[in-house]
Amino acid sequence: MTTNINFATAPGHQVLAAAGKKILRPGGKSATEQLFTWANFQPEETVLELAASFGESAIQIAKRFNVRVVGVEKNPDSVARARENIQAAGLSDRVTIVEGDIFHLEQITDKFDYVLAEAILTMQSNTGKAKVLSTIKDHLKPGGKFLSHELLIRDKKSEVHKNLSQSIKVNANPLTASEWLIACQDAGLTLEQQQTGAMRLLNFGQIVRDEGLFRTFKIFWNVFTNPNLGQRFSEMRRNFQKYRHDIGYIVFWAKGTSLMDNG
Ligand SMILES: C[S@@+](CC[C@H](N)C(=O)[O-])C[C@H]1O[C@@H](n2cnc3c(N)ncnc32)[C@H](O)[C@@H]1O
Repeated sequence: MTTNINFATAPGHQVLAAAGKKILRPGGKSATEQLFTWANFQPEETVLELAASFGESAIQIAKRFNVRVVGVEKNPDSVARARENIQAAGLSDRVTIVEGDIFHLEQITDKFDYVLAEAILTMQSNTGKAKVLSTIKDHLKPGGKFLSHELLIRDKKSEVHKNLSQSIKVNANPLTASEWLIACQDAGLTLEQQQTGAMRLLNFGQIVRDEGLFRTFKIFWNVFTNPNLGQRFSEMRRNFQKYRHDIGYIVFWAKGTSLMDNG
């Protein structure tokens, strides 16, 4: 377990990762699988992943679908860990991690068949979302697909925003399904398909489904044997449980300019 973080102040995803959790997206593994089904990746296609974290998704799709992935990640420790994971998976020729900020993607001049972004847009203000979505559109090839996995708000928007942001310690600014649609439209992206469901990231059953029995045991061992970690973990879990009817996950794909639009 990584212990060189301050559990009282660290962002929720760092706390969960320190506990041993690998899946940090609101809809878990199955929602990500839905995105992969919609994507229908073909060998040698290219994917830009925003906020690639430890390279989990990048490694998965490179291995399973033989695509090429460029991941962008801001946290230098996560970048180092992602690169180690990629090397260990023997995928250094197919997956590249760029240390950088999704708000400054000018350094990446290529266009991609897909842009994948999970659990990152929710953390941005409305202006931030608009900026990133417009950058996403600019990085898609004609006919390319934007694959998105985020937090959904159903009710009590401002209360949830305040309480989740406090317990996760990052801005938690989820949108309703129609607000996600409009945000895409405003950036020139057309939402094609979507799926929503319950947000059970820290439910025991969901953790077992996402992480497997062995890692679930390790996660709960870490949580129960480290009081500071345990306190943050329980606080987040309590809040997710409290607002279970008001929040959910959303996955959707949207297209940018079509081949025909480009003449
Ligand atoms: C909740 S995690 C999601 C990670 C990953 N997409 C996943 O689904 O497992 C958020 C990640 O986004 C990264 N991140 C946050 N803000 C970023 C930014 N502006 N540019 C690049 N990465 C960022 C964090 O360092 C962290 O690794």
